[in-house]
Amino acid sequence: MSFRIRKAVFPVAGLGTRFLPATKTVPKEMLPVVDKPLIQYAVDEAIEAGCDTLVFVTNRYKHAVADYFDKAYELEVKLEKSGKTELLGMIRDVLPRHVRAIFVTQAEALGLGHAVLCARPVIGDEPFAVLLPDDLIWNKGPGALRQMAALAERESASVIAVQDVPPDQTGSYGIVATGDVQGRTAQINAIVEKPRPDVAPSNLAVVGRYVLSGRIFDLLSRTRPGAGGEIQLTDGIAALMKEERVLAHRFEGKRFDCGSRIGLVEATIEFALQHDDLAEDTREIMRAALAR
Ligand code: UTP
Repeated sequence: MSFRIRKAVFPVAGLGTRFLPATKTVPKEMLPVVDKPLIQYAVDEAIEAGCDTLVFVTNRYKHAVADYFDKAYELEVKLEKSGKTELLGMIRDVLPRHVRAIFVTQAEALGLGHAVLCARPVIGDEPFAVLLPDDLIWNKGPGALRQMAALAERESASVIAVQDVPPDQTGSYGIVATGDVQGRTAQINAIVEKPRPDVAPSNLAVVGRYVLSGRIFDLLSRTRPGAGGEIQLTDGIAALMKEERVLAHRFEGKRFDCGSRIGLVEATIEFALQHDDLAEDTREIMRAALAR
């Protein structure tokens, strides 16, 4: 079976409690880093990796995500009339023409594994990508998902993005144990959700990028609620590993944990410093703030 991925799933039906009260009305994935919402960074990464079908798993309160990818008639007419072609291009290009967006609903926030399972009717049984938009990954070269898609195709195997985390933070992540490491890649032997540091098999943490075999759907549909009463993607992956090879890949790039407030602050500063028109002012503001 070819492991070429064309479809990407964006589970965006979580409650985003860490950003309350903002997330009472604004979905976490719509929070901006400088001038783009988090979801746009993840979508751009998926398209760069070769995906042309984007599946958003939303809930009934998250109209903002669908609205964002919809056509904004009034705004377009206004920008067109006033000759603001650059801005017009910007809002039209949120999705290139060859890419289609499909929305499915997760009726209840029953966990990440359950959210992925909701995309099954669109994905079928082919390999696909999962991107969690609150993990914002920046790389100068190819994006994290593109690196993983190439590896998945070469090895005909599922691939999960991992990163070393400080040992005292294992309780916040899925943690993997691997076999021999070859370059940035190793086969996963075990995966556990949020282990305490004293029982964690390593400090290699799963971050929000996955290339998964379509087989995961059957396994997820049989997965019982695990940690926190939710259907965990980690448990589905643990079942998948018993049948197929699953690789861990230390991607090249920097990850910002934009699911946490400090991560969003960090990403905002770093991305502002990368914008030519903002870098100097940002430095000046930071210097002044730190001198106080
Ligand atoms: P998180 O663990 O970050 O949960 O979910 P959350 O609800 O979004 O945020 P907090 O912790 O309350 O602040 C990881 C990813 O899984 C999605 C989320 O939208 C996020 O992208 N998710 C989680 C779902 O789509 N459905 C769920 O039932 C749970």
